[in-house]
Amino acid sequence: MKNLSDIKETAIQAIRDCKNNADLNQLRVLYVGKKGEIQEVMKAMKDMSKEDRPAFGALVNEVKKEISALLEERKCVLEEKELAVKLEEEKLDITLSGYRPHLGNIHPLMLVQQELEDVFVGLGYSVAEGPEVECDLYNFERANIPKDHPARDMQDTFFINVEELLRTHTTAVQMRQLEQSQKEGKEIIKVICPGKVYRRDDDDATHSHQFMQCEGLVVGENIRLSDLKGTLLFMARKMFGENRIIRFRPSYFQFTEPSVEVDVSCHICGGKGCHVCKGSGWIEVLGAGMVHPNVLRMAGFDPKKLSGFAFGVGMERIAMLKYGIDDIRAFYTNDLRFLKAFNRFE
Ligand code: PHE
Repeated sequence: MKNLSDIKETAIQAIRDCKNNADLNQLRVLYVGKKGEIQEVMKAMKDMSKEDRPAFGALVNEVKKEISALLEERKCVLEEKELAVKLEEEKLDITLSGYRPHLGNIHPLMLVQQELEDVFVGLGYSVAEGPEVECDLYNFERANIPKDHPARDMQDTFFINVEELLRTHTTAVQMRQLEQSQKEGKEIIKVICPGKVYRRDDDDATHSHQFMQCEGLVVGENIRLSDLKGTLLFMARKMFGENRIIRFRPSYFQFTEPSVEVDVSCHICGGKGCHVCKGSGWIEVLGAGMVHPNVLRMAGFDPKKLSGFAFGVGMERIAMLKYGIDDIRAFYTNDLRFLKAFNRFE
């Protein structure tokens, strides 16, 4: 059996030399553990005389205490060192430049929609939406286009069944708005209806079987053609520049009477004539007119008391003119090179 002072000597040395906490734990087990060397020495007491036992016991306890204290002290030192190493290894450099997340950007058609909404909300209009799968009633009948009307040919569309179809114009939303306002007893309507519409068309650079419109409707007492003209001039200037002028040409729509085609003076050449306006100085931008009395009557209004105007713009057309895009298909084919050209964040 080892003697006490040898145990003490080697323990002190081993603890001092110990380099990490795991090894230190092993030393703890080896010296002061239940089956450790000090405990082993204690066992020798049973062979001693009664007189010698207390003194020996006290001595062994003293050594045990000393070793335990040393173990504790060393543990603190080692823990501090380990923490320092960890902190050094895990150091974060907050001065490094970060990665900018890819934000994407707003689609050009949505830019046009937002701009139109800003213009008209600024004039006190509200924005209304409606279903894209629409009833024949709102898309055609209420718009004064009965079942056998030849005008339906120009707006052939995708039919779900005889009565349901993909809407051909957002005029359908206007017809719903008229009906709802009448039911609610409202006699003043100021609304724009942006949204997707569909037609049976062969896709090419200027035609698409699906496109976007923004139509407007105003109904009230004594609404006149001059109100329509002022409103559209205001819109043309907001969308294409403060120097624009507009002109009306006679046209035909079933739901308006009189009906007009509206040209805006060319925003590229200012009206002198260029390749965009094909030398005429004017660009055809939208259709409009005074709401047909039949349309008001079918919605339950008295056309002798109320009148109104309506207009409809194609949003692709506006975007193509504004941004100089020559193929309507560019809006739908998701070519990132095209879409990124509208990024206002980079
Ligand atoms: N709904 C018509 C179209 O899709 C546009 C329009 C709206 C014309 C309102 C006049 C008044 O062609």
